[in-house]
Formats: sequence, structure tokens, C-alpha cells
Amino acid sequence: MKRFRVAVLPGDGIGPEVTREAVRVLELAGELFGYRIDLAKHAIGAEALVEDGEPLPSRTRQGVLDADAVLLGAVGDPRYTGPASRSPEAGLLGLRRLLGVYANLRPVAVHPSLSEISPLRPERLHDVDLLIVRELTGGLYYGAPRGRDGTSAWNTLRYSEEEVERVARVAFEAAGERRGKVASIDKANVLEVSQLWRDCVGRVAKDYPEVTLEHLYVDFAAMRLVADPGSFDVLLTENLFGDILSDEAAVLAGSLGLLPSASLGDAQGLFEPVHGSAPDIAGRDLANPIGAVLSAAMLLRYGLGLPEAGDLVERAVRQALGAGCRTRDLARPGEPVLTTGEMGQEIVRALARIEATATTGR
Ligand code: IPM
Ligand code: MN
Repeated sequence: MKRFRVAVLPGDGIGPEVTREAVRVLELAGELFGYRIDLAKHAIGAEALVEDGEPLPSRTRQGVLDADAVLLGAVGDPRYTGPASRSPEAGLLGLRRLLGVYANLRPVAVHPSLSEISPLRPERLHDVDLLIVRELTGGLYYGAPRGRDGTSAWNTLRYSEEEVERVARVAFEAAGERRGKVASIDKANVLEVSQLWRDCVGRVAKDYPEVTLEHLYVDFAAMRLVADPGSFDVLLTENLFGDILSDEAAVLAGSLGLLPSASLGDAQGLFEPVHGSAPDIAGRDLANPIGAVLSAAMLLRYGLGLPEAGDLVERAVRQALGAGCRTRDLARPGEPVLTTGEMGQEIVRALARIEATATTGR
């Protein structure tokens, strides 16, 4: 039996709750396809600050490098207000850098039964199926110098051509498999970095004649994302713009709790829901595990090279939603509300059901 090793980093806030459900689904999906997935748990973020005094301890660093892929819950705890380098978030940024995962893929699609819960009119949501490709290991998040003194503070925005080109390639490759459109988002009317970004993306585009490229300023893109979201296929952008636009895009799907992500580079991939640690609801079994479960699906597809297992998990989630399963963030007044664990259980049931039908039909 083929075996895989997955490092599991539940992290802070709702991270452990949603990761628990994602792991159940991951193990079952592996089993159904005849694979064994060995899981090893490691600390990150505030949890690691308490246990080891640092947000990304060496045991965790070793653990993720020994694994085939990494599943992460969430990082962040408002009780830690120390220097940026010793915050829980520094653990996550360190992990992304350690793994070299420069391309963050954040797909956003609208499940038909949820178009009513989005604040946008349902008719605007018809053709929404987009993919944000966010550069993840550069830009303002990492630029030096950075710092703060008595009366001012500074960060540095710097990108090299190589950093832009490699993430642009990921976007064009993805567009080639989708609807063949890349919208590259920048602020080239103001920033030199954006001018370099635009030049590099334009050069990469020449290698993909079947893909159409448009350049958009980030302010206009933010507006079009709600005014005409169906017009987008792949959105390619730098780290901070991508962070902001992906939360905005989550509104289209109805809830941030639904969205998964895959962060890819040249080695192990990192898979985590787009939502944060949500400390206000942590530990109460209220969180939506779907973002984490769909991240596990992306882990199966991109991290372990098991696309059929990934498809199966996504179908199971669609079935559960189609059958009316709703966590608190998705329920409309009067609809029954499932806990995190109950939603996970419904997805596991759907998975087993789909597989049973497929096997009988074979
Ligand atoms: C995200 C998060 C992180 C980011 C935080 C927790 C550092 O908001 O993954 O979008 O800004 O990248
Ligand atoms: Mn974010």
C-alpha cells in the first residue's frame, strides 16, 4: 500500500476544530483510494509560543520538511501583542518562507444553494468561478529594511524579476486549464515595483499565446470584483493586494469559512483555509470546517498527486451543501444550524455514500 506523510499544524483559535474535521475527511478519502496517510502533529503560532517560546519551533520545521505535504488550521491570537518577529503570525510567515511556497492559489466558486446568503444580488453571482494567484513569499510582508522608532515606522516593497516571473507562470498555466484569462493586478500608475511587475507579466504572457492578459489597477479590480465578478478567471497579484482581494472575493461565496487555499513552490505544498483563527468563536464547535476540508482536497490533488481523491472530497462537500447542511455562518434565519463536528460528519457520510454508489456501478 502506498504511504504518504502529512504534517498537521492545527495552530490557534478555531484552527484545531476545523483541522480535526479536515483530517477525518483526508484519512477516509485516502483509505477509499487504497492509500495510507500517516499524520504527524506539530505546533505553530501562539500554541508554539506557549510550548516552545517561539512561533515556529525547530521540531515543527523539521516535521514539515520530513513530510510530503502540510495541512494547517489557522494562526493568530490577540493576546500576543509583542514585536512582529515574535508574533504568532511570524510563525506562519516563517513557514511559508521555509517551504518556499511562492504561489498561493485561492479558488472562489459559488455553490448555487448559497447564492442567497451573499450580500450581492444572486444574478451577479451566476458565472463566478475565479482563482486568485497570490504571490506569497515576497513584497511588503518580507521586505527589509523594516522597523519602527519613536515617531515613525517603515516597510519595504521590493520584488525581483525572478519572483514575479515564477508566480506569473503558475497563473498562466492555471488559466490554460481554465477559461484562458489572466487579470494581472497592480498599482503601476504609482509604484515602480508595479511597473516591473507589469513588464515581467507581459513577457511571460508571450509564452502563453492561448491565454489573454489584461492589466488592472488594484483599486479598479477591487470594484470590478463586486460589480462584475463573473468577468474574472485568474487574478494574478502580489502578496498584500492578494491578501486583501481574497477576503473581498470570499464575500461572493457567501462566507470566508468556505474558502480553501494551496500554497505551492518547488517542494512540499502548504494547504490552509483562507480564514483566520476567529478567536471570538474558538473552542465552541461553531466554526465552518468546509474551508479546511476543501484545503485537504487541494492537498490530495496538488500535494500528494491524487486528483481523483481531491475530486471526491469536493463532490462530498457540494452534496452536503446541496442537502441543506449549514453551519452558523451559512444558515439563514430559521434554518437548522450544524456544529463544526456535525458538518464534518455530514461530509464524511456523503463521501462514503458517493464511493458506495460508484463501487456498485463499477
Ligand atoms: C492569510 C492571512 C495571513 C496573511 C496572516 C494571518 C498573516 O490573513 O493567509 O490571508 O496575511 O497572509
Ligand atoms: Mn488574509
